[in-house]
Amino acid sequence: MMKLSVVILAAGLGKRMCSALPKVMHPIGSKPMLAHVFAAAQSLSPDAIYIVQNAIRPLLSECFKPEVVTNPLCKLTWVTQAQQLGTADALKSVLPYLDLSEREKEREGEEQVLILCGDTPLVSAELLDGFMKSLKPDLVKEHSCMGFISARVDNPTGFGRVIRDSQHSPIAIVEEREANAAIRAITEINSGIFCVSLHLLISLLPKLSNQNTQQEYYLTDLVQLAVSEGKAITAYLAPNAEEVMGVNTRYQQALVERLYQQKQVQKLMAEGVSIRDLNRVDIRGRLQCSPDVIIDVNTLFEGNNKIGARTKIGANCILVNCEIGEDVEILPFSYLSGVTVGKGCQIGPYARIRPETVLANNVKIGNFVEVKKSQIGTDSKINHLSYVGDAILGTSVNIGAGTITCNYDGLNKHQTIIEDDVHIGSDTQLVAPLRIKQGTTIAAGSTIIQDTEAGKLTLTQTLNQRVVDHWVRPVNQKINK
Ligand code: UD1
Ligand code: CA
Repeated sequence: MMKLSVVILAAGLGKRMCSALPKVMHPIGSKPMLAHVFAAAQSLSPDAIYIVQNAIRPLLSECFKPEVVTNPLCKLTWVTQAQQLGTADALKSVLPYLDLSEREKEREGEEQVLILCGDTPLVSAELLDGFMKSLKPDLVKEHSCMGFISARVDNPTGFGRVIRDSQHSPIAIVEEREANAAIRAITEINSGIFCVSLHLLISLLPKLSNQNTQQEYYLTDLVQLAVSEGKAITAYLAPNAEEVMGVNTRYQQALVERLYQQKQVQKLMAEGVSIRDLNRVDIRGRLQCSPDVIIDVNTLFEGNNKIGARTKIGANCILVNCEIGEDVEILPFSYLSGVTVGKGCQIGPYARIRPETVLANNVKIGNFVEVKKSQIGTDSKINHLSYVGDAILGTSVNIGAGTITCNYDGLNKHQTIIEDDVHIGSDTQLVAPLRIKQGTTIAAGSTIIQDTEAGKLTLTQTLNQRVVDHWVRPVNQKINK
Protein backbone atom coordinates (compact mmCIF):
# COMPACT_ATOMS: atom_id res chain seq x y z
CA MET A 1 0.00 0.00 0.00
CA MET A 2 1.16 3.50 -0.78
CA LYS A 3 2.23 5.54 2.20
CA LEU A 4 1.67 9.26 2.14
CA SER A 5 3.41 12.00 4.09
CA VAL A 6 2.38 15.62 3.70
CA VAL A 7 4.83 18.46 4.25
CA ILE A 8 3.47 21.98 4.66
CA LEU A 9 6.09 24.65 4.03
CA ALA A 10 5.44 27.50 6.42
CA ALA A 11 8.86 28.73 7.52
CA GLY A 12 9.20 31.69 5.17
CA LEU A 13 9.65 35.05 6.86
CA GLY A 14 6.80 36.58 4.88
CA LYS A 15 8.68 39.86 4.51
CA ARG A 16 6.24 41.16 1.90
CA MET A 17 3.47 41.22 4.53
CA CYS A 18 5.46 43.77 6.64
CA SER A 19 4.04 42.22 9.79
CA ALA A 20 5.12 40.94 13.20
CA LEU A 21 2.68 38.07 12.73
CA PRO A 22 4.03 35.13 10.69
CA LYS A 23 2.47 35.23 7.22
CA VAL A 24 0.75 31.84 7.44
CA MET A 25 -0.96 32.99 10.67
CA HIS A 26 -2.72 35.82 8.86
CA PRO A 27 -6.39 34.94 8.53
CA ILE A 28 -8.69 34.07 5.69
CA GLY A 29 -12.27 33.92 6.94
CA SER A 30 -10.82 34.57 10.46
CA LYS A 31 -8.90 31.27 10.39
CA PRO A 32 -5.12 31.28 9.93
CA MET A 33 -4.11 30.45 6.34
CA LEU A 34 -2.09 27.53 7.67
CA ALA A 35 -5.19 26.05 9.31
CA HIS A 36 -6.95 25.97 5.92
CA VAL A 37 -4.03 24.16 4.32
CA PHE A 38 -3.81 21.82 7.30
CA ALA A 39 -7.50 20.96 6.89
CA ALA A 40 -7.00 20.13 3.21
CA ALA A 41 -3.99 17.97 4.13
CA GLN A 42 -6.01 16.07 6.73
CA SER A 43 -8.73 15.34 4.19
CA LEU A 44 -6.31 12.96 2.44
CA SER A 45 -5.88 10.92 5.65
CA PRO A 46 -2.09 10.82 5.24
CA ASP A 47 0.14 8.74 7.49
CA ALA A 48 1.93 11.86 8.73
CA ILE A 49 1.85 15.64 8.39
CA TYR A 50 4.95 17.78 8.89
CA ILE A 51 4.76 21.54 9.25
CA VAL A 52 7.99 23.41 8.66
CA GLN A 53 8.33 26.59 10.71
CA ASN A 54 11.18 28.98 11.38
CA ALA A 55 12.96 29.51 14.66
CA ILE A 56 12.47 33.27 14.80
CA ARG A 57 8.69 33.47 14.88
CA PRO A 58 7.31 30.12 15.92
CA LEU A 59 3.76 29.51 14.76
CA LEU A 60 0.99 29.98 17.22
CA SER A 61 -0.79 26.97 18.62
CA GLU A 62 -4.04 28.87 17.95
CA CYS A 63 -3.81 27.32 14.53
CA PHE A 64 -4.44 23.96 16.10
CA LYS A 65 -7.51 24.52 18.18
CA PRO A 66 -9.50 21.29 18.45
CA GLU A 67 -11.87 22.21 15.64
CA VAL A 68 -8.96 22.57 13.25
CA VAL A 69 -7.83 19.00 13.85
CA THR A 70 -10.49 17.22 11.85
CA ASN A 71 -8.63 13.98 11.50
CA PRO A 72 -7.05 13.07 14.84
CA LEU A 73 -5.56 9.97 13.26
CA CYS A 74 -2.92 11.88 11.31
CA LYS A 75 0.23 12.46 13.21
CA LEU A 76 1.41 16.07 13.18
CA THR A 77 5.09 16.88 13.62
CA TRP A 78 6.53 20.39 13.79
CA VAL A 79 9.91 20.76 12.10
CA THR A 80 12.14 23.81 12.34
CA GLN A 81 14.07 25.12 9.36
CA ALA A 82 17.15 26.73 10.94
CA GLN A 83 17.70 29.38 8.25
CA GLN A 84 15.42 30.49 5.46
CA LEU A 85 17.47 29.30 2.52
CA GLY A 86 14.55 28.59 0.21
CA THR A 87 11.71 26.16 -0.37
CA ALA A 88 13.97 23.20 -1.18
CA ASP A 89 16.00 23.85 1.96
CA ALA A 90 12.75 23.89 3.98
CA LEU A 91 11.96 20.46 2.60
CA LYS A 92 15.47 19.23 3.42
CA SER A 93 14.81 19.97 7.08
CA VAL A 94 12.06 17.31 7.02
CA LEU A 95 14.26 14.61 5.49
CA PRO A 96 15.61 13.29 8.80
CA TYR A 97 12.00 12.55 9.81
CA LEU A 98 11.34 10.80 6.52
CA ASP A 99 14.51 8.71 6.86
CA LEU A 100 14.09 5.96 4.33
CA SER A 101 16.43 3.40 5.87
CA GLU A 102 14.54 3.59 9.18
CA ARG A 103 11.21 3.26 7.48
CA GLU A 104 12.15 0.47 5.15
CA LYS A 105 12.83 -1.66 8.18
CA GLU A 106 9.26 -1.28 9.31
CA ARG A 107 7.34 -1.33 6.11
CA GLU A 108 7.55 -2.16 2.48
CA GLY A 109 6.15 -0.39 -0.51
CA GLU A 110 6.12 3.04 -2.02
CA GLU A 111 6.04 6.27 -0.13
CA GLN A 112 4.93 9.57 -1.62
CA VAL A 113 5.64 13.00 -0.19
CA LEU A 114 3.05 15.67 -0.93
CA ILE A 115 4.39 19.19 -0.50
CA LEU A 116 1.96 22.04 0.19
CA CYS A 117 2.59 25.72 0.90
CA GLY A 118 1.17 27.31 4.03
CA ASP A 119 0.30 30.44 2.04
CA THR A 120 -2.19 28.93 -0.45
CA PRO A 121 -5.26 28.67 1.78
CA LEU A 122 -7.88 28.00 -0.90
CA VAL A 123 -6.46 24.61 -1.82
CA SER A 124 -9.34 22.14 -1.60
CA ALA A 125 -9.60 18.49 -0.71
CA GLU A 126 -11.03 17.81 -4.21
CA LEU A 127 -8.08 19.47 -5.94
CA LEU A 128 -5.56 17.43 -3.94
CA ASP A 129 -7.55 14.28 -4.51
CA GLY A 130 -7.69 14.88 -8.28
CA PHE A 131 -3.97 15.58 -8.33
CA MET A 132 -3.04 12.42 -6.41
CA LYS A 133 -5.18 10.35 -8.77
CA SER A 134 -3.43 11.90 -11.80
CA LEU A 135 -0.08 10.46 -10.72
CA LYS A 136 0.96 7.47 -12.77
CA PRO A 137 0.70 4.27 -10.69
CA ASP A 138 3.59 2.56 -12.50
CA LEU A 139 5.92 5.47 -11.70
CA VAL A 140 4.70 5.46 -8.10
CA LYS A 141 5.58 1.76 -7.96
CA GLU A 142 9.03 2.42 -9.36
CA HIS A 143 9.58 5.10 -6.72
CA SER A 144 10.25 7.60 -9.49
CA CYS A 145 7.08 9.62 -9.58
CA MET A 146 7.10 13.40 -9.63
CA GLY A 147 4.20 15.70 -10.30
CA PHE A 148 3.06 19.19 -9.51
CA ILE A 149 -0.11 21.23 -9.82
CA SER A 150 -0.05 24.02 -12.38
CA ALA A 151 -2.70 26.58 -13.31
CA ARG A 152 -3.54 28.90 -16.16
CA VAL A 153 -3.97 32.47 -14.99
CA ASP A 154 -4.55 35.83 -16.63
CA ASN A 155 -1.90 37.52 -14.56
CA PRO A 156 1.06 35.24 -13.77
CA THR A 157 3.10 37.95 -12.02
CA GLY A 158 5.08 36.63 -9.07
CA PHE A 159 4.64 32.93 -9.86
CA GLY A 160 7.08 30.39 -11.27
CA ARG A 161 6.36 29.71 -14.98
CA VAL A 162 5.94 26.21 -16.39
CA ILE A 163 8.12 25.43 -19.42
CA ARG A 164 6.97 22.63 -21.71
CA ASP A 165 8.83 20.97 -24.59
CA SER A 166 7.52 20.46 -28.12
CA GLN A 167 5.63 17.35 -26.98
CA HIS A 168 3.96 19.48 -24.34
CA SER A 169 5.71 17.71 -21.47
CA PRO A 170 6.75 19.94 -18.58
CA ILE A 171 10.53 20.23 -18.46
CA ALA A 172 11.21 23.09 -16.05
CA ILE A 173 9.77 25.71 -13.73
CA VAL A 174 11.44 29.11 -13.94
CA GLU A 175 10.99 31.61 -11.13
CA GLU A 176 9.95 35.08 -12.20
CA ARG A 177 13.16 36.60 -10.91
CA GLU A 178 15.19 34.28 -13.11
CA ALA A 179 12.93 34.62 -16.17
CA ASN A 180 13.46 36.55 -19.39
CA ALA A 181 10.62 38.40 -21.11
CA ALA A 182 9.60 35.40 -23.23
CA ILE A 183 9.28 33.16 -20.16
CA ARG A 184 7.47 35.86 -18.22
CA ALA A 185 4.86 35.91 -20.97
CA ILE A 186 3.92 32.28 -20.16
CA THR A 187 0.62 32.10 -18.31
CA GLU A 188 0.85 28.54 -16.95
CA ILE A 189 2.14 28.87 -13.41
CA ASN A 190 3.44 26.62 -10.66
CA SER A 191 1.06 26.27 -7.71
CA GLY A 192 3.89 25.26 -5.38
CA ILE A 193 2.19 21.91 -4.73
CA PHE A 194 4.34 18.89 -5.55
CA CYS A 195 4.16 15.17 -5.03
CA VAL A 196 7.39 13.19 -5.23
CA SER A 197 8.33 9.59 -4.46
CA LEU A 198 10.40 9.61 -1.31
CA HIS A 199 13.24 7.65 -2.98
CA LEU A 200 13.44 10.19 -5.78
CA LEU A 201 13.25 13.14 -3.42
CA ILE A 202 16.09 11.80 -1.30
CA SER A 203 18.28 11.34 -4.35
CA LEU A 204 17.50 14.73 -5.93
CA LEU A 205 17.38 17.20 -3.04
CA PRO A 206 21.12 17.21 -2.28
CA LYS A 207 21.87 17.88 -5.95
CA LEU A 208 20.06 21.24 -6.08
CA SER A 209 22.22 24.34 -6.18
CA ASN A 210 21.55 27.87 -5.04
CA GLN A 211 23.15 29.51 -8.06
CA ASN A 212 20.40 32.03 -8.70
CA THR A 213 19.62 35.68 -8.07
CA GLN A 214 18.39 34.96 -4.53
CA GLN A 215 21.04 32.39 -3.62
CA GLU A 216 18.23 30.21 -2.43
CA TYR A 217 17.51 26.53 -2.91
CA TYR A 218 14.43 26.47 -5.15
CA LEU A 219 12.14 23.46 -4.90
CA THR A 220 11.05 24.25 -8.43
CA ASP A 221 14.50 23.26 -9.73
CA LEU A 222 13.57 19.65 -8.94
CA VAL A 223 11.67 19.52 -12.22
CA GLN A 224 14.60 20.32 -14.48
CA LEU A 225 16.86 18.08 -12.44
CA ALA A 226 14.48 15.12 -12.65
CA VAL A 227 14.07 15.65 -16.41
CA SER A 228 17.85 15.66 -16.83
CA GLU A 229 17.89 12.28 -15.12
CA GLY A 230 15.31 10.96 -17.56
CA LYS A 231 12.26 11.08 -15.27
CA ALA A 232 8.80 11.90 -16.59
CA ILE A 233 6.99 14.72 -14.83
CA THR A 234 3.23 15.15 -14.56
CA ALA A 235 1.82 18.66 -14.47
CA TYR A 236 -1.79 18.53 -13.29
CA LEU A 237 -3.67 21.59 -14.46
CA ALA A 238 -5.90 22.82 -11.62
CA PRO A 239 -9.51 22.86 -12.88
CA ASN A 240 -10.06 26.00 -10.86
CA ALA A 241 -7.01 28.29 -10.88
CA GLU A 242 -8.33 30.36 -7.97
CA GLU A 243 -7.66 27.50 -5.57
CA VAL A 244 -3.91 27.84 -5.96
CA MET A 245 -3.69 31.60 -5.46
CA GLY A 246 -0.80 32.26 -3.09
CA VAL A 247 -0.69 35.05 -0.57
CA ASN A 248 2.55 37.01 -0.42
CA THR A 249 1.17 40.48 0.23
CA ARG A 250 -1.76 42.00 2.10
CA TYR A 251 -3.33 42.92 -1.22
CA GLN A 252 -3.24 39.26 -2.29
CA GLN A 253 -4.65 38.33 1.13
CA ALA A 254 -7.63 40.61 0.48
CA LEU A 255 -8.16 39.12 -3.00
CA VAL A 256 -8.01 35.58 -1.61
CA GLU A 257 -10.35 36.55 1.23
CA ARG A 258 -12.96 37.68 -1.32
CA LEU A 259 -12.58 34.45 -3.31
CA TYR A 260 -13.01 32.50 -0.08
CA GLN A 261 -16.14 34.50 0.79
CA GLN A 262 -17.64 33.93 -2.64
CA LYS A 263 -17.12 30.20 -2.18
CA GLN A 264 -19.03 30.29 1.15
CA VAL A 265 -21.77 32.35 -0.43
CA GLN A 266 -22.15 29.99 -3.40
CA LYS A 267 -22.47 27.05 -1.03
CA LEU A 268 -25.21 28.82 0.95
CA MET A 269 -27.06 29.82 -2.21
CA ALA A 270 -27.02 26.20 -3.37
CA GLU A 271 -28.69 25.35 -0.05
CA GLY A 272 -31.54 27.79 -0.70
CA VAL A 273 -30.31 31.03 0.89
CA SER A 274 -30.82 34.37 -0.87
CA ILE A 275 -27.85 36.66 -0.65
CA ARG A 276 -28.56 40.10 -2.03
CA ASP A 277 -24.97 40.88 -3.05
CA LEU A 278 -22.36 38.16 -3.03
CA ASN A 279 -19.57 40.69 -2.58
CA ARG A 280 -21.12 42.31 0.46
CA VAL A 281 -21.34 39.53 3.00
CA ASP A 282 -18.54 38.21 5.23
CA ILE A 283 -18.60 34.83 6.89
CA ARG A 284 -15.82 34.48 9.42
CA GLY A 285 -16.52 31.08 10.85
CA ARG A 286 -19.41 28.70 10.26
CA LEU A 287 -22.82 29.82 9.06
CA GLN A 288 -25.61 27.27 8.78
CA CYS A 289 -28.86 28.42 7.22
CA SER A 290 -32.16 26.71 6.55
CA PRO A 291 -33.87 27.33 3.21
CA ASP A 292 -35.32 30.72 2.28
CA VAL A 293 -33.16 32.71 4.63
CA ILE A 294 -32.56 36.16 3.12
CA ILE A 295 -29.34 37.99 3.82
CA ASP A 296 -29.08 41.63 2.85
CA VAL A 297 -25.95 43.65 2.10
CA ASN A 298 -22.99 44.42 4.40
CA THR A 299 -23.71 41.65 6.85
CA LEU A 300 -21.00 40.04 8.96
CA PHE A 301 -21.19 36.61 10.58
CA GLU A 302 -18.54 35.62 13.08
CA GLY A 303 -18.00 32.34 14.91
CA ASN A 304 -20.77 29.75 14.79
CA ASN A 305 -24.13 31.03 13.60
CA LYS A 306 -27.26 29.07 12.82
CA ILE A 307 -30.29 30.65 11.17
CA GLY A 308 -33.76 29.15 10.83
CA ALA A 309 -35.94 28.97 7.73
CA ARG A 310 -37.40 32.16 6.20
CA THR A 311 -35.51 34.45 8.57
CA LYS A 312 -34.41 37.79 7.15
CA ILE A 313 -31.17 39.46 8.13
CA GLY A 314 -31.30 43.14 7.24
CA ALA A 315 -28.52 45.29 5.86
CA ASN A 316 -25.51 46.13 8.04
CA CYS A 317 -26.18 43.54 10.75
CA ILE A 318 -23.49 41.70 12.69
CA LEU A 319 -24.14 38.27 14.19
CA VAL A 320 -21.59 36.58 16.43
CA ASN A 321 -22.22 33.04 17.70
CA CYS A 322 -26.01 33.27 17.47
CA GLU A 323 -28.76 30.76 17.05
CA ILE A 324 -31.74 32.37 15.35
CA GLY A 325 -35.10 30.63 14.94
CA GLU A 326 -37.50 30.51 12.01
CA ASP A 327 -39.39 33.49 10.58
CA VAL A 328 -37.35 36.03 12.48
CA GLU A 329 -36.74 39.48 11.11
CA ILE A 330 -33.57 41.28 12.09
CA LEU A 331 -33.80 44.82 10.83
CA PRO A 332 -30.79 46.88 9.67
CA PHE A 333 -27.85 47.90 11.86
CA SER A 334 -28.43 45.36 14.62
CA TYR A 335 -25.56 43.72 16.48
CA LEU A 336 -26.22 40.38 18.17
CA SER A 337 -23.56 38.41 20.02
CA GLY A 338 -24.06 35.11 21.85
CA VAL A 339 -27.83 35.27 21.51
CA THR A 340 -30.51 32.60 21.11
CA VAL A 341 -33.62 33.85 19.35
CA GLY A 342 -36.91 31.94 19.16
CA LYS A 343 -39.38 31.83 16.29
CA GLY A 344 -41.09 34.87 14.79
CA CYS A 345 -39.13 37.52 16.71
CA GLN A 346 -38.56 41.00 15.35
CA ILE A 347 -35.34 42.76 16.20
CA GLY A 348 -34.02 46.20 15.41
CA PRO A 349 -33.29 48.38 13.60
CA TYR A 350 -30.32 49.44 15.75
CA ALA A 351 -30.68 46.78 18.42
CA ARG A 352 -27.76 45.55 20.46
CA ILE A 353 -28.22 42.17 22.06
CA ARG A 354 -25.36 40.87 24.15
CA PRO A 355 -24.20 37.41 25.26
CA GLU A 356 -26.30 34.97 27.25
CA THR A 357 -29.54 36.51 26.11
CA VAL A 358 -32.38 34.18 25.19
CA LEU A 359 -35.47 35.49 23.42
CA ALA A 360 -38.48 33.17 23.40
CA ASN A 361 -40.94 33.20 20.49
CA ASN A 362 -42.52 36.36 19.01
CA VAL A 363 -40.44 38.75 21.06
CA LYS A 364 -39.96 42.30 19.79
CA ILE A 365 -36.80 44.22 20.48
CA GLY A 366 -36.93 47.65 18.89
CA ASN A 367 -34.56 50.47 18.06
CA PHE A 368 -31.80 51.63 20.40
CA VAL A 369 -32.49 48.82 22.84
CA GLU A 370 -29.63 47.05 24.60
CA VAL A 371 -30.31 43.66 26.17
CA LYS A 372 -27.67 41.80 28.15
CA LYS A 373 -27.69 38.38 29.81
CA SER A 374 -31.47 38.27 30.00
CA GLN A 375 -34.32 35.93 29.22
CA ILE A 376 -37.28 37.49 27.49
CA GLY A 377 -40.54 35.53 27.52
CA THR A 378 -42.89 34.83 24.62
CA ASP A 379 -44.78 37.82 23.15
CA SER A 380 -42.87 40.34 25.26
CA LYS A 381 -41.88 43.69 23.78
CA ILE A 382 -39.07 46.12 24.47
CA ASN A 383 -39.63 48.48 21.62
CA HIS A 384 -37.65 51.66 22.16
CA LEU A 385 -34.55 53.10 23.82
CA SER A 386 -34.11 50.79 26.80
CA TYR A 387 -31.44 48.90 28.71
CA VAL A 388 -32.40 45.49 30.04
CA GLY A 389 -29.57 43.62 31.75
CA ASP A 390 -29.47 40.61 34.09
CA ALA A 391 -33.22 40.32 33.82
CA ILE A 392 -35.79 37.59 33.47
CA LEU A 393 -38.99 38.66 31.76
CA GLY A 394 -42.12 36.53 31.66
CA THR A 395 -44.61 36.36 28.83
CA SER A 396 -46.53 39.31 27.34
CA VAL A 397 -44.48 41.90 29.20
CA ASN A 398 -44.44 45.38 27.71
CA ILE A 399 -41.51 47.61 28.52
CA GLY A 400 -42.08 51.29 27.76
CA ALA A 401 -39.58 53.53 26.03
CA GLY A 402 -36.55 54.58 28.03
CA THR A 403 -36.81 51.91 30.71
CA ILE A 404 -33.57 51.02 32.47
CA THR A 405 -32.76 48.05 34.68
CA CYS A 406 -30.29 49.55 37.16
CA ASN A 407 -28.39 46.32 37.61
CA TYR A 408 -25.02 47.55 38.86
CA ASP A 409 -24.24 49.06 42.25
CA GLY A 410 -20.65 49.79 41.34
CA LEU A 411 -19.46 46.44 42.60
CA ASN A 412 -22.02 43.74 41.92
CA LYS A 413 -24.61 42.99 39.28
CA HIS A 414 -28.17 42.33 40.49
CA GLN A 415 -31.13 40.65 38.89
CA THR A 416 -34.49 42.06 37.87
CA ILE A 417 -37.39 39.63 37.57
CA ILE A 418 -40.43 40.82 35.69
CA GLU A 419 -43.31 38.37 35.80
CA ASP A 420 -45.95 37.68 33.14
CA ASP A 421 -48.20 40.42 31.81
CA VAL A 422 -46.38 43.34 33.43
CA HIS A 423 -46.66 46.77 31.79
CA ILE A 424 -43.89 49.19 32.53
CA GLY A 425 -44.42 52.86 31.68
CA SER A 426 -41.87 54.92 29.80
CA ASP A 427 -38.79 56.33 31.49
CA THR A 428 -38.85 53.92 34.42
CA GLN A 429 -35.81 52.91 36.46
CA LEU A 430 -35.94 49.44 37.96
CA VAL A 431 -33.35 49.31 40.74
CA ALA A 432 -32.21 45.69 41.12
CA PRO A 433 -32.46 43.32 42.91
CA LEU A 434 -36.14 43.52 42.23
CA ARG A 435 -39.23 41.49 41.42
CA ILE A 436 -42.10 43.05 39.51
CA LYS A 437 -44.98 40.72 40.20
CA GLN A 438 -47.46 39.38 37.68
CA GLY A 439 -49.84 41.88 36.13
CA THR A 440 -48.21 44.94 37.72
CA THR A 441 -48.55 48.24 35.89
CA ILE A 442 -45.89 50.85 36.55
CA ALA A 443 -46.64 54.46 35.74
CA ALA A 444 -44.30 56.42 33.50
CA GLY A 445 -41.30 58.08 35.09
CA SER A 446 -41.15 55.86 38.19
CA THR A 447 -38.07 54.77 40.08
CA ILE A 448 -38.92 51.37 41.54
CA ILE A 449 -36.78 50.15 44.42
CA GLN A 450 -39.05 47.55 46.04
CA ASP A 451 -40.85 44.45 44.81
CA THR A 452 -44.31 45.29 43.56
CA GLU A 453 -47.69 43.78 44.39
CA ALA A 454 -49.28 41.61 41.73
CA GLY A 455 -51.94 43.21 39.56
CA LYS A 456 -51.53 46.72 41.08
CA LEU A 457 -50.62 50.09 39.64
CA THR A 458 -47.38 51.30 41.15
CA LEU A 459 -45.86 54.76 40.82
CA THR A 460 -43.31 56.92 42.57
CA GLN A 461 -43.51 60.33 40.97
CA THR A 462 -45.53 63.16 42.57
CA LEU A 463 -47.73 64.36 39.77
CA ASN A 464 -47.51 68.06 40.07
CA GLN A 465 -48.33 69.60 36.71
CA ARG A 466 -48.66 73.39 36.67
CA VAL A 467 -49.48 76.05 34.15
CA VAL A 468 -47.29 79.20 34.11
CA ASP A 469 -49.49 82.00 32.94
CA HIS A 470 -47.17 84.91 32.14
CA TRP A 471 -44.36 83.02 30.47
CA VAL A 472 -43.52 84.01 26.89
CA ARG A 473 -41.55 81.96 24.39
CA PRO A 474 -38.20 83.58 23.55
CA VAL A 475 -39.19 84.33 19.97
CA ASN A 476 -37.33 87.25 18.28
CA GLN A 477 -35.52 87.93 21.54
CA LYS A 478 -32.04 86.90 20.48
CA ILE A 479 -29.47 88.22 22.93
CA ASN A 480 -26.52 90.07 21.32
CA LYS A 481 -23.25 89.17 22.98
C1 UD1 B 1 6.76 29.74 -4.69
C2 UD1 B 1 7.39 28.98 -5.87
C3 UD1 B 1 6.74 29.49 -7.17
C4 UD1 B 1 5.24 29.31 -7.10
C5 UD1 B 1 4.65 29.98 -5.86
C6 UD1 B 1 3.21 29.56 -5.70
C7 UD1 B 1 9.68 28.38 -5.27
C8 UD1 B 1 11.10 28.73 -5.41
N1 UD1 B 1 8.81 29.19 -5.87
O1 UD1 B 1 7.13 31.11 -4.86
O2 UD1 B 1 7.26 28.76 -8.28
O3 UD1 B 1 4.66 29.83 -8.29
O4 UD1 B 1 5.34 29.55 -4.68
O5 UD1 B 1 2.58 30.27 -4.68
O6 UD1 B 1 9.36 27.39 -4.64
N2 UD1 B 1 9.18 28.73 2.75
C9 UD1 B 1 9.87 28.07 3.73
N3 UD1 B 1 11.21 28.27 3.86
C10 UD1 B 1 11.91 29.10 3.03
C11 UD1 B 1 11.18 29.78 2.03
C12 UD1 B 1 9.82 29.59 1.91
O7 UD1 B 1 9.28 27.29 4.49
O8 UD1 B 1 13.13 29.22 3.21
C13 UD1 B 1 7.71 28.53 2.64
C14 UD1 B 1 6.89 29.80 2.82
O9 UD1 B 1 6.49 29.96 4.18
C15 UD1 B 1 5.70 29.59 1.89
C16 UD1 B 1 6.23 28.63 0.83
O10 UD1 B 1 7.43 28.07 1.34
O11 UD1 B 1 4.62 28.99 2.57
C17 UD1 B 1 6.51 29.35 -0.48
O12 UD1 B 1 7.47 30.37 -0.26
P1 UD1 B 1 7.33 31.83 -0.90
O13 UD1 B 1 8.51 32.63 -0.49
O14 UD1 B 1 6.00 32.38 -0.64
O15 UD1 B 1 7.48 31.45 -2.44
P2 UD1 B 1 6.92 32.23 -3.71
O16 UD1 B 1 7.83 33.36 -4.01
O17 UD1 B 1 5.49 32.52 -3.53
CA1 CA C 1 4.03 32.35 -1.83
